[in-house]
Amino acid sequence: MKRLRAELLAWYDRSGRDLPWRRAPSPYGTLVAEFMLQQTRVASVAPRYLAFLRAFPTLKALAAARPDEVLALWEGLGYYRRATYLHAAAREAEARWGGLPDDPAQLLRLPGLGPYLAAAVASIGFGRPVAAVDGNVRRVLSRLVDRELGPREARRLAARLVDRGRPGDWNQALMDLGATVCLPRRPRCGACPLGRVCRARRRGTASLRPAPRRRRPVRAAPRPTVVVFGPRGVLLERRPPKGLLAGLWGFPGRERGGDEAAPEADDWTELARALGLVGLRPVRRRALEYRHTFSHRAWEVVVDVYRAACAREPEPAPYRWASPAELGALPLPRAFEPIRQAILDGSLGCGAGAT
Ligand code: ADE
Repeated sequence: MKRLRAELLAWYDRSGRDLPWRRAPSPYGTLVAEFMLQQTRVASVAPRYLAFLRAFPTLKALAAARPDEVLALWEGLGYYRRATYLHAAAREAEARWGGLPDDPAQLLRLPGLGPYLAAAVASIGFGRPVAAVDGNVRRVLSRLVDRELGPREARRLAARLVDRGRPGDWNQALMDLGATVCLPRRPRCGACPLGRVCRARRRGTASLRPAPRRRRPVRAAPRPTVVVFGPRGVLLERRPPKGLLAGLWGFPGRERGGDEAAPEADDWTELARALGLVGLRPVRRRALEYRHTFSHRAWEVVVDVYRAACAREPEPAPYRWASPAELGALPLPRAFEPIRQAILDGSLGCGAGAT
């Protein structure tokens, strides 16, 4: 066991990836990086991590930020709920303890932190000897013992293996091994520092674990959407506080077959009436169509374009107008990016501020 640890850590010192959050690891930097790295690739996270830390260099700065500032820096990373959780976790830790606690059990009580994230912050940020097991690490360990380990079993084995002197490096070494050598489909066993002790390698079953999973087809739901050009720009709608893309701005629309009732075309006229839009008229039907895939569902977006001659300031609050400059700067979910691009490059047929 001792030799296994020494060999993996020596490999990490030689071949571990040089990533921005590893250069001077801190509890806060680790928290931000690990929130970003859930469901998002390392290469996409690196530049955004640096920008985020420039804007909010400390937990205190993040706790004091406005939600829209935090969301703006999350743009392009997707899964925006993570940003909301990270912000809430920063506020709570700051309010309760004036900083992040080093105890994984306390970290686990913060919003959005599960066993993996709590262990990652405790070990990488604080040097506490706890094992952080994500999907990659579970695969590495499963191959090591040549048995498909469940999350709990993997955590138990990882807890026995963790290097007590360098727990953060140990955990990240296993992550790197999973990401660069012990790959899901074609493991590069020849380059593996654990080859000597790996049962799956010895038995020649390394490429059989994990058992291949059948991908479930992603369900796509129609998503009729409107772009309304008015005197003050383009109409935006805030998404409901719960569910997909909760609380984020987007273009008005409804998912068919989702949680929301789908309007027929005439319902947009209803919307117009409610918002005091005068002289609303259709400009182009089906001006833009595209498919956007989330992790386990998809939208078939169909965009109709309208023009309103004049409008009062939208009340109630889930609506607002955005000028072209505001539209360019606003943190919009990726699901709406094709529409924003089409508006800004003029291909929807109206200038963004035109009437
Ligand atoms: N994935 C999740 N956390 C990571 C880390 N600290 N380093 C590399 N990849 C990761």
